[in-house]
Amino acid sequence: VTRTRFYTAATIDGFIADPDDGLDWLMQSDSGGIDTFGPFFADVGAFVMGSSTYEWMLAHAEMVNWTVAYAGIPCWVFTHRELPGVPGADIRFVRGEVRPVHEQMVAAAGGRDIWLVGGGELAGAFVDEGLLDELILSVAPATLGAGKPLLPRRLPPSRLTLRSVQQIGQFAHLTYTLT
Ligand SMILES: NC(=O)c1ccc[n+]([C@@H]2O[C@H](COP(=O)([O-])OP(=O)(O)OC[C@H]3O[C@@H](n4cnc5c(N)ncnc54)[C@H](OP(=O)(O)O)[C@@H]3O)[C@@H](O)[C@H]2O)c1
Repeated sequence: VTRTRFYTAATIDGFIADPDDGLDWLMQSDSGGIDTFGPFFADVGAFVMGSSTYEWMLAHAEMVNWTVAYAGIPCWVFTHRELPGVPGADIRFVRGEVRPVHEQMVAAAGGRDIWLVGGGELAGAFVDEGLLDELILSVAPATLGAGKPLLPRRLPPSRLTLRSVQQIGQFAHLTYTLT
């Protein structure tokens, strides 16, 4: 059964990027050489992101070689604009409601998981529709005071269950399920 999983890094005070979309705080954090993303992505059959995240990836192509890192896995990008694709990558530009897009992704994933990359408002739209199953959070040893929020929604403790806690270098790696 396909799980929809919001896998992201965040600061202690709940930001996934600084106000200018910077991730220096993340790059400077020590993961102890332990790769949690590789094993996570091995189970992913489709992934989805908002346009700011996509544009960050395009601007940092030297760090993320799309057709190597995400080979053969379709990606949906939410945007109201015309954005360039990535040669050799299966990228589908969509807008509006998340539910019909999620249905397409489940079909494409073929029983594997969906990775919700971010940002927070898009994750919130999935939460609003009851479509998010897990939040997997790598908390970096940093605060920002301001930036792009992790999940700008109100979720009471009754809706989140902590399933695992791991120390990954200086990161706290937390897995929650949502109901
Ligand atoms: N720490 C991490 O691991 C991590 C993970 C993910 C992202 N990030 C970073 O965090 C930042 C996130 O940026 P963000 O909060 O602005 O979020 P985002 O979701 O990446 O981008 C938001 C934009 O996506 C488009 N969009 C979102 N929902 C849409 C919908 N339903 N229909 C049509 N378009 C829609 C809109 O742009 P347009 O319509 O104008 O295109 C919106 O302004 C980025 O800098 C990213 O690189 C960090």
